[in-house]
Formats: sequence, C-alpha cells, structure tokens
Amino acid sequence: MKDYDQLFQSALVEVDSCETSGLLEQTRIKYFGKSGLFTLELKKISSLNPVEKKSLGKKLNDFKNNFFKQIKTKKESLDNNEIEKKISTDFSDPSMPYRSDSILSSKIHPITQTIEEIVSIFGSMGLSYVEGPDIEDDFHNFTALNISQNHPARQMHDTFYLDAKKENKNVLRTHTSPVQIRTLLRGEIPIRIFAPGRTYRCDSDVTHTPMFHQVEGLIVEENINFANLKWFLKQFCKLFFEKDNIKLRFRPSFFPFTEPSAEVDINYKLDQGKIYLGEGDKWMEILGCGMVHPNVFKFCNLENLSLRGFAFGMGIERLAMLKYGMPDLRSFFENDFNWLQHYGFSFLDQPDLNWY
Ligand code: PHE
Repeated sequence: MKDYDQLFQSALVEVDSCETSGLLEQTRIKYFGKSGLFTLELKKISSLNPVEKKSLGKKLNDFKNNFFKQIKTKKESLDNNEIEKKISTDFSDPSMPYRSDSILSSKIHPITQTIEEIVSIFGSMGLSYVEGPDIEDDFHNFTALNISQNHPARQMHDTFYLDAKKENKNVLRTHTSPVQIRTLLRGEIPIRIFAPGRTYRCDSDVTHTPMFHQVEGLIVEENINFANLKWFLKQFCKLFFEKDNIKLRFRPSFFPFTEPSAEVDINYKLDQGKIYLGEGDKWMEILGCGMVHPNVFKFCNLENLSLRGFAFGMGIERLAMLKYGMPDLRSFFENDFNWLQHYGFSFLDQPDLNWY
C-alpha cells in the first residue's frame, strides 16, 4: 500500500501555499478533478478485498473531507485579501452619482441661469452684488421705504406676516427693495449695487406665484438723474436680451419710495406663439423704477448730503419668460423633470457678454 500519509501531507501543504484562487483551483483539479490523483485512487478501491476496501475507503474519504475543508478556508482568505487590496488601491468616490452620464444630462434651472446672466451683466456695468435676508422686519420692508403704518401699499403687497402680534413685525420680504435700505444705512457713498433674490406675496394664479424672484438696483451719487436711469435700463435690456433694437416705454407710476416713479414696458409681438422683441405693438411690463424719494434718505440718515439716486426692481421670472419663450409662470416651480430637460441649461452654458 502506498504511503498515503505523505501524499496527504504534501497535498495539504500545496493547498496552503497557493497565492491566487486560480492556483487553488488548479490544485483542486490536480488531486480531485475528474482524473485527479486521489479521484483515481478512490476508483481503485472497488477492486480491493472487503477489509482493505473498508480501511482505505475510510482513510481516503476522511482525507477528501479534510482537503476540501482546507480549500474552502484558503479560498475565503484569498478572496478577503483580494477585496482588501482592491479597497486600498481603488480611489473611486462612492458618493458620486451612479450614472456616469448624469453630469451631462442634468440641467441648470432657467431662473438660476437668468440670475447668472444678470449678475454677469450688472457686474460688467460696474455694480456690486449684495444680498439681503428673506425674512425682513417691518422697518426695512415698509417704514424706511416711506410706506407708513396705514399706507394702502401695505395691503397692495399681500404680505406674509410671520409674527403679527409684535410691534416690529417680521415678514417674508414682499420685494427686494429692503436691500436698498440696508445698503443706504451702511452709508458708503457712492452706492452702485444690485441685489437678486427671492420675494414673497400671498398670491397665486396664472400670473402669480407666492414666491418669485426680483433683482433690485440702486445707484446713489451726487449728480445723477432720470436720464441716467433711462440709459442704464436700456443698456441692461440690450445686453440681457442680446438685441440692439429693443424698445422701452416709461409709464408714469407710483411707488412710495421713488419720486418720480415709472413702470417700464418692453415692446414685442407674438407670431405663432413665439415672442419677438422690438417689433409689433404689444407691451409687457418688466420693471418698476424711479428716483430715490427724499424721505428714504431721511430714514437712512443721509438727508444732509445732497445725494440723488435711482432705483429699480425687476421680476426675474418675467425676464426669463420673455427671453426664453416660456409661456407659463407656474411651470418654473412645478419640478417637472421633462420641463427642466427642455428649458434647462447645460452647466457649460456660461453667460457671456456681447456689448452693443
Ligand atoms: N419694489 C417695487 C415692486 O416690487 C419695484 C421698485 C423697485 C420700484 C425700486 C421702484 C424702485 O414692485
């Protein structure tokens, strides 16, 4: 009878010395594959006499169990090593989006894009970007803007009051004009700022949403007049709509914080559902503006400096709808994925400037 013990021993040593799961598999085949060394030995058992059969059969089968147990343990340890190695050398970031094309297919919301365009234009015109809080107090949102306690304009604004009982009530700002007050109170003259942001009014229908966006502008220096304001707004519109022949109409209007005040309409025509600016005989209101009211300077302790200023506030959704031909205001806020795929912008669509 062969010296099985030595054979068993060397087979187990071989299993233990395998460095990859491929080599381990080869070792398994070598000993217990179809024509493996021990497979053939097991086959021979049937031709032995019953006594030998019993003892050798038991010996070989015991070894077989042992061998496969060892193979299993070795395989687990090799697999673990491979995972360890992969983890320590693989620098992929599991927080990245699952789909590799998602960066290119995701879109910038038209409001974000429009604000970026506005930022780039006003920046190039020499204005600084400032921001104010969405939650304002009564003083900044109304009083200092010459809207007194019983002024009908307070009703006009459909204000969301946050704590109605307090004397200096907090509100969700109804316009971006309180940023004028915050800037004037800092008293750094001359002032050339613009301030885009969210505004809120308790109003919802086809042409109104409870939250919308405005951009405020304020220029304050010693010699500034209404003609400067007109030139400035026309220049902005040419750059924003990327068109030289736009027409603006300044309509006398009323705001408590400007005098004189005007609302500005832009000229357009509709042809088969498309908007053409600078043509036809239709007009759409896009902004309110005027010369800073003396009382506003007074509320901000600037009445003695013989300053003048102009201010304006524009609706950003309006501007976006006109420029990009979006018919319905409400769709801006419906989070409709298909709408965003259609009207959204690529992150590579950086606004650039064509001067007219
Ligand atoms: N705040 C005004 C509004 O929301 C717009 C405006 C801003 C008018 C600045 C004049 C000057 O309607």
